[in-house]
Amino acid sequence: MRWRRPGGADQARVLAVLDDWWGALGGEAGSRQRALLLPRLFFQHFADTSLLGEATDGRLTAFLIGFRSAAQPDAAYIHFVGVDPALRRRGVAAGLYRWFFAQAAAGGARRVDAITSPGNATSVAFHTAIGFRIIPGRRTVDGVDVQVDYDGPGLHRIAFTRPLTPADTARASES
Ligand SMILES: CC(C)(COP(=O)(O)OP(=O)(O)OC[C@H]1O[C@@H](n2cnc3c(N)ncnc32)[C@H](O)[C@@H]1OP(=O)(O)O)[C@@H](O)C(=O)NCCC(=O)NCCS
Repeated sequence: MRWRRPGGADQARVLAVLDDWWGALGGEAGSRQRALLLPRLFFQHFADTSLLGEATDGRLTAFLIGFRSAAQPDAAYIHFVGVDPALRRRGVAAGLYRWFFAQAAAGGARRVDAITSPGNATSVAFHTAIGFRIIPGRRTVDGVDVQVDYDGPGLHRIAFTRPLTPADTARASES
């Protein structure tokens, strides 16, 4: 697998895999919401803090879209991550996150935030496995705290946060 920063032209390629990689989670409404979460601006203006993986034949294998908070210098944010279903449980996403944590620590951030949709049990398992904690919410869905109406009426979200650790900072100074 090769890694590179994304560009505007990659947006369509990422959109094309979302339904397959998310297993059509949430039906048509979920599909529409996901596509709207990735306008081209992310690929243009957050390329330096994002990464895209490709197989030797050029096929998309994984991506991470993240950025440093403009308003909160101590925070960085992972907006979207996906791994080809054929390559799961091999540490690909964990590697992408480690890379992001090192970049964020080098840039002065002290924590990384992320959200996911209620019902995305894989995402919850992944985020908690790599050290994120779930921020308490007013309601639980499938036993997990959710932030009610976080992204608009009916658009509940699970919110995660993870402090950047001395190990993340050490990795940043190595790279
Ligand atoms: C979530 C996702 C990015 C994880 O990618 P991945 O490369 O398979 O994850 P990793 O191999 O790095 O997993 C690291 C750890 O997370 C946990 N984990 C990952 N997937 C899991 C699953 N399906 N069930 C339980 N735990 C899981 C495990 O502890 C795993 O370590 P282990 O394999 O040694 O047990 C991937 O499943 C995906 O693309 N899902 C669809 C898109 C999505 O939901 N993105 C997140 C919301 S934006």
